[in-house]
Amino acid sequence: MTDDKTSGGRRVISQEQADAVNAKAGTAAYAAAPRKTLDRFGMPINRREALAYATAGALALLTLGGAVTLTSPNSSDQMIGLLDPNGEAIPGGFAYPRIKEGEFGGTFTVDRKVESYTLDEPPELNSAGKFFIVKTAAPPAGGELDPAQQGIIAIYQVCTHLGCLIPFQPAENRFICPCHGSTFERNSQWVRGPAPRNLDQFPVEIGPDGTIVVNTGKKQTGTAH
Ligand code: FES
Repeated sequence: MTDDKTSGGRRVISQEQADAVNAKAGTAAYAAAPRKTLDRFGMPINRREALAYATAGALALLTLGGAVTLTSPNSSDQMIGLLDPNGEAIPGGFAYPRIKEGEFGGTFTVDRKVESYTLDEPPELNSAGKFFIVKTAAPPAGGELDPAQQGIIAIYQVCTHLGCLIPFQPAENRFICPCHGSTFERNSQWVRGPAPRNLDQFPVEIGPDGTIVVNTGKKQTGTAH
């Protein structure tokens, strides 16, 4: 026996039959639908969402790779940017801030020319560069004077014991540290005190016209005693 009826030539079915047909159609549609994957929360994602996630992941990797490339040290360029804990400049890519001429960590062109310095005048402090310019005829122990420097050396102002700024004492004609008394000759040679080595220096270049350029980005460690 059937509940099928007709109306105007059309087949008429009950609500119950209609629900059964819809349920069957829905099951078939679900079975025919593309399979979904699950996201990290266990929720289903479709192909478009999966593609979007993959694209975002690739972009994130590219961004990270670019950042590593830009900040990785590269000794082949002149983009001096930072000093490491030992006071050495860290060459790097352009992600590092470039240190300008006249800023500590960069180069300094001294106001006076090389011929104006004398062997008996006190060391001249460059506060911004944290170095003294000294003319000397004798290098400290373990060091040597480059004839091209014409006796000019640049001594780092920081004590080699625990890092106090060290002044020159004209009355003693020596550097004497106010913290623990380490004492150094005017050419950076250690004399006494707890400092383990001579004062450190920075490289000096003398130009053809007598210009003095000091590179505070490349500290030269003093010789230990
Ligand atoms: S910091 Fe200079 S002697 Fe100690």
